[in-house]
Amino acid sequence: MSKPIISFKTISKTFPGVKALDSVSFDVLEGEIHALIGENGAGKSTLLNILHGIYNEYEGEVWIEGNKAAFKNANDAIKSGISKVHQEVSLISDLTVGQNVALGHEPRKGMFIDFKTMNAKVDSILQRLRCKFKSSDLVSTLSTGEMQMLSIAKALFHEARIISFDEPTAALTENETRALFEIIRELKANGITVIFISHRLDELFEICDRITVLRDGKFVGTYLTGEMTRQKLIQSMVGRDVAAFAERKKPGLKTDEIVLEVKSLSRSGVFENISFHLNKGEILGFSGLVGSKRTDVVRALFGADRKTSGEIFIKGKKGRINSPKQGLMQGIGLIPENRKTQGFIRNMTNADNMGLAALKKFSRLGFINQKQKIDNCKQLADNLQLNPKDPEYMTYNLSGGNQQKVVLGKWLTTNTDILIFDEPTKGVDVGAKAEIYRLMEELLEAGKSIIMVSSELPEVIGMSDRVIVMHEGKMMKELHRHELDEETILHYAMGGSVK
Ligand SMILES: Nc1ncnc2c1ncn2[C@@H]1O[C@H](COP(=O)(O)OP(=O)(O)OP(=O)(O)O)[C@@H](O)[C@H]1O
Ligand SMILES: [Mg+2]
Repeated sequence: MSKPIISFKTISKTFPGVKALDSVSFDVLEGEIHALIGENGAGKSTLLNILHGIYNEYEGEVWIEGNKAAFKNANDAIKSGISKVHQEVSLISDLTVGQNVALGHEPRKGMFIDFKTMNAKVDSILQRLRCKFKSSDLVSTLSTGEMQMLSIAKALFHEARIISFDEPTAALTENETRALFEIIRELKANGITVIFISHRLDELFEICDRITVLRDGKFVGTYLTGEMTRQKLIQSMVGRDVAAFAERKKPGLKTDEIVLEVKSLSRSGVFENISFHLNKGEILGFSGLVGSKRTDVVRALFGADRKTSGEIFIKGKKGRINSPKQGLMQGIGLIPENRKTQGFIRNMTNADNMGLAALKKFSRLGFINQKQKIDNCKQLADNLQLNPKDPEYMTYNLSGGNQQKVVLGKWLTTNTDILIFDEPTKGVDVGAKAEIYRLMEELLEAGKSIIMVSSELPEVIGMSDRVIVMHEGKMMKELHRHELDEETILHYAMGGSVK
């Protein structure tokens, strides 16, 4: 039995109006992979921010290897061997990989940075991580997965003994996730302690030794992964039973009426010859690996990107969609994948952010009806289990997953007949996932139709009536509900030919 490397002792943290952490105590053992889980807003990121010196005002104590920690800032923590692989990687894109890794700690020769030593050291770490990029590459050329590897390289450069990962797989492909898990296992084999936050329960069972559950800022328990089941975990996270799997409660809502027909849509150099139709009341899934250009197709369809050729018919009428505004006017709404950057305005409340894409709905004779906007927000906050539900709360101060719910709410407010969801449940907790699935079915029942781009196979399989599988900008196959299974989808997603 190894000894505690971190002891959280009665940690409390209050933000104006919110008790984010309430007397949380538990130990993390040296060399283990320790999961931290809980619903959106449970306090996970806040606890990590305290561990990493990002917040230095809190009650209680953090002990690291028998010493009380008193970090004044993140740099102090890094110097003590505690590094963080961020939820959103923040890198300086016009510097090289080597410069980013060593930033602020570059080896020097006299007054000057010793680039040769720096790059050699960084390259040896990149090799250890089996990265294909080099220290001399520009960060702007890296993919999301590669940027994350860069963050890990940075932690190793600082000889971290404790590394935390806050939802590291949310933006990764299957392959990148596999690679990341291999690296995490290797870190563990080298005696490094890992703290891991994820909303994907399967991942916890795959790589974590122990799991700590937080609920409403309070410690619920620490469990051995081997002694837990999915259902027990969910129960302790949300305090009630929720459906753990994506499934249709109402599968028979698809009608014969075609609401959208897309003919040979192309964007030269990106995707080509995409043709499909969407029926009223159905969910049409778009599956594929990252790089398959699913997001590009739906963006072009909505008018956010240019298309080079192709035709779109909406309810039989030829559409002209060259901007998102035209898309919206012709009844198409897109709930974007990257909700952090395309989603909400920083200094606005939840009610205002949710009303943002549908101002017309709330204005008469040029006046905005604030009460209507607030009522709209209250109703959606209920549906989406927003936490806190307060319409006057600043969206920016919500936890990551709750910010996503606000952006979902914003697009649901627009009330278009065709809704495109791009990764609808990324970053949201199990309870909210189930709510979002239910909401989708309510939309279908109300006569709407849904296109859903999703990287989570269980979600695509569980929710879709039909699925279009893409590979490198091409449509590989259309599958019907009864043909859906992981193996078949992956076969086509990897470019496999017709079986
Ligand atoms: N800077 C802030 N100002 C005000 N309130 C905040 C701030 N940061 C977090 N909170 C609040 O503290 C609580 C905990 O948030 P935290 O980000 O730790 O949640 P989380 O468990 O990481 O959730 P998620 O899974 O959604 O990322 C939430 O109620 C959130 O609204
Ligand atoms: Mg968080």
